[in-house]
Amino acid sequence: MKRIITYGTFDLLHYGHINLLRRAKQQGDYLVVALSTDKFNKDSKDKVCYFSYEKRKALLEAIRFVDLVIPEDNWEQKSTDIELYHIDKFVMGDDWVGHFDFLKEHCEVVYLARTPEISTTKIKADMKK
Ligand code: CTP
Repeated sequence: MKRIITYGTFDLLHYGHINLLRRAKQQGDYLVVALSTDKFNKDSKDKVCYFSYEKRKALLEAIRFVDLVIPEDNWEQKSTDIELYHIDKFVMGDDWVGHFDFLKEHCEVVYLARTPEISTTKIKADMKK
């Protein structure tokens, strides 16, 4: 069984997220999503989510491409997660290209093209118009 992992905040879940999760799952058989906690978002990414961690987790768990949701609460956990969950491939959108190449000593690393013209930031900005 080929196991995949991806990381993100996934606030105000949108079709760009779904496209990413579908293609991540297509890379293997079992998809783990490491979901940024509210504290990690606030302290390390300067991001305040609309939906709480619990709500974002429940939404992700309802998606058929997602097999397991775990918390992401620091930048350093990735290599430990890869070992712990027996991950074969690390997948991220290409806004992160090159950023996680250091994980290649643990597993395959793949960056997938982002879906154009949609993001949580854009939804928030458009709703204010
Ligand atoms: N993603 C994507 N296509 C988009 C938006 C996001 O493929 N249009 C991917 C990202 O590259 C990442 C994952 O979805 O691998 C989670 O991204 P996240 O940062 O949570 O979503 P964004 O919409 O980019 O949020 P923000 O605007 O807050 O950065």
